[in-house]
Amino acid sequence: MEVMRAAEEREMAGGDVLHLEVGQPSTPAPSGVIAAAHRALDEDVIGYTTAAGTPVLRRRVAAHYRSWYGVEVDPDRVMFTVGASGAFVAAFLAAFDVGARVVVPSPGYPCYRNALDALGCEVVDLPTTMATRFQPTVALLDEIVTVGGPIDGLVLSSPSNPTGTMLDDGRMAEIAAWCRSHGVWFISDEIYHGLTYGIRAPTALEHDDEAIVINSFSKYFSMTGWRLGWLVMPDALTETLTRIGQNVTISAPTLSQLAAEAAFDCHDECEAYVARYAVNREILLSGLRSAGFDELAPADGAFYIWAGVDHLIQSGRAADSQTLCAEWLADIGVAATPGIDFDPSRGQRYVRFSFAGSTDDCTEAMVRLKDWASASGGRS
Ligand SMILES: Cc1ncc(COP(=O)(O)O)c(C=O)c1O
Repeated sequence: MEVMRAAEEREMAGGDVLHLEVGQPSTPAPSGVIAAAHRALDEDVIGYTTAAGTPVLRRRVAAHYRSWYGVEVDPDRVMFTVGASGAFVAAFLAAFDVGARVVVPSPGYPCYRNALDALGCEVVDLPTTMATRFQPTVALLDEIVTVGGPIDGLVLSSPSNPTGTMLDDGRMAEIAAWCRSHGVWFISDEIYHGLTYGIRAPTALEHDDEAIVINSFSKYFSMTGWRLGWLVMPDALTETLTRIGQNVTISAPTLSQLAAEAAFDCHDECEAYVARYAVNREILLSGLRSAGFDELAPADGAFYIWAGVDHLIQSGRAADSQTLCAEWLADIGVAATPGIDFDPSRGQRYVRFSFAGSTDDCTEAMVRLKDWASASGGRS
């Protein structure tokens, strides 16, 4: 948020900014969704829905699991929430008591730890490295339990924010089985599904019907501001989660639910967005390498590249990723996100670049970074 504020200030002062810090699509919702919203405004009352959401959209989501993953999901297990963000809080409230020990891999999406912390849970950090594709393994989970005692939950996202890395089918199966055999709630944030580059993202539901699966219309469907996410609830928590939904938000935004019914008919438009991300991803991967960034996490999915900047710190070029990002913004108008929020202990050595923006911005940003690297004595 600080980077975005600084970028905004620079723009207000007349400077240009290439936005590689953003964590959201730069495109509108698919046109079918927008047309459905117009129709709903003209024809519908737009009152509350039931706590879980409209029956039509619940069935559409269930059908989506059948067609994308070959998994049968009872529509009664689907509940809509205020974005995936609303789903985390509901899931944490339903699954955990105060004091529950919940593993959160780092680097990872900061809101998991912040929400768990606010709810009185104990966040158990699980540092991951490039060696495990910045995702947990059962060996790492065993170690956590051996050293610190039993845990109550595991929250992860695959593809991940900030690393873009994924669990393949085998590793997803191992982790789901480990959680089940250890009596641990597995919360799988699948918000970046659909945004993958040559690899399929398996849902946790393929391996464990008791996993708590979270997804959203924000990313693949390009609908961040519509604030609509969903949960696939395990049978054991369906009633509790529905009661939480009822008491905390009454229902997810009705206009968004009615409009989202059209989203699953808009795959061509969404796939065109993915094709642009794929082009941008190639531009960043080759641009960053030629600017001397050798430590790049495998960019399996989402729209992020997690880049090590240790070479710049070791050479005295920058103190840490925060000062580096501030310098890039001030000197070359490139906004990127320092890693500190995603990994409090090691994030000063990493930067997250987003390729969700325009291809022109990505191209120009790479030219400027390469020039910066040559001018500052780095390799280029
Ligand atoms: C991993 C992850 N989960 C959830 C969210 C929040 O999603 P929503 O807009 O659906 O609340 C984000 C947003 O960037 C994210 O990166």
